[in-house]
Amino acid sequence: MSTPANPATSPAASTGVAPADAKLTDVATLRANARRNIEDGAVTGTYLADKQVVIKLLNDALATEYVCVLRYYRHYFMASGMLADSVKAEFLEHAQQEQAHAHQLAERIVQLGGEPDLNPDTLTKRSHAEYKEGRDLRDMVKEDLIAERIAIDSYREMINYIGDRDTTTKRILESILAQEEEHADEFADLLDGWIGE
Ligand SMILES: [Fe+2]
Ligand SMILES: [Fe+2]
Repeated sequence: MSTPANPATSPAASTGVAPADAKLTDVATLRANARRNIEDGAVTGTYLADKQVVIKLLNDALATEYVCVLRYYRHYFMASGMLADSVKAEFLEHAQQEQAHAHQLAERIVQLGGEPDLNPDTLTKRSHAEYKEGRDLRDMVKEDLIAERIAIDSYREMINYIGDRDTTTKRILESILAQEEEHADEFADLLDGWIGE
């Protein structure tokens, strides 16, 4: 039975020439790179995305989340009618989950060296989704479904743009996207089975 090659004594290691398919950086270089530009915090030289563009995209998403938080709270407080109790619970849960998304986005913005833009004067202009009050319970659910579908499209576009150049941001956006899809699904089911007020 042959023994597996020991990397330390393999021909590549002894000649100092890395195999053609090797992509890993040696320890000394890794350590030296980490010491350079330490004021950049979590952003190191291997970060491949355009940081300013990513921060801008995250800030647009942050504005969207806050507009959704406000719209869901408005719907929560104003919901009335036969189905109001169960739908109110959905509105409240969504408001809290959108708030949690906003939190994740703001933290990532800071990690990338940016600043979360929470200026209320420009929030609705920067948001992808709209603040629609809705005339009645059914209209509120319809507007929320539309807003969720907008969020789904914009998160998917962001994920496609970022790709593997910033895998941490991509992972955060993917987890948020999955929850927006759940939100849309819940409202689509609700509208499907609507028996009228
Ligand atoms: Fe969200
Ligand atoms: Fe949502």
